[in-house]
Amino acid sequence: MNSVTVLDKTFHLLISEQEIKGRIKELAVQLKNDLINEDVIFIAILNGSFMFASDLLKEFDLPAQITFVKLASYQGSSSSGTVKRLIGINENIENKTVVILEDIVDTGLTLELIKKQLTGYEPKTIKFATLLLKPDCYKGKENIDYIGFNISNEFIIGYGLDYDGYGRNYPNIYINKVIKK
Ligand code: IMP
Ligand code: MG
Repeated sequence: MNSVTVLDKTFHLLISEQEIKGRIKELAVQLKNDLINEDVIFIAILNGSFMFASDLLKEFDLPAQITFVKLASYQGSSSSGTVKRLIGINENIENKTVVILEDIVDTGLTLELIKKQLTGYEPKTIKFATLLLKPDCYKGKENIDYIGFNISNEFIIGYGLDYDGYGRNYPNIYINKVIKK
């Protein structure tokens, strides 16, 4: 499909399933080379990264643990407003090589928050892999170790990414050139 309509917006094909799968194969090779003797645990951030995690990990044919976590928003008791907390970490990650799997990094705030919270569990190291990065928006200091595609500052859906909860199920990635996030 060259375009899809989700709710009130029309989105156009940006990256095809075939291109995504090809790039993921390359990332998996890079990961395998870097992590061959490490005690690895992949932590995929739900909901957005479910397709990326699935396709990447099928290509990563070395022993590794895989878990899924979610960022839950809750109202802080102070004036700080909404705070986000990682939920679902039941595994012991102490002294392990953690690889965070994200669908997309935009400002980098989410990534920073995840790093801060995971550091308390004392892993050996934390690496980041994201399918997509918006370099024009990224303000973070963290090094992103594995990047699938750099994209422009436009709103995208598909392959796990949503618009108001819809659009995650498409195998391709689509762009809406009108909306700026
Ligand atoms: P950050 O904290 O600004 O880096 O935002 C990252 C999160 O924002 C991602 O995990 C997505 O959930 C969401 N996000 C950022 N850009 C897009 C987009 O273009 N489409 C859908 N979700 C997005
Ligand atoms: Mg997300």
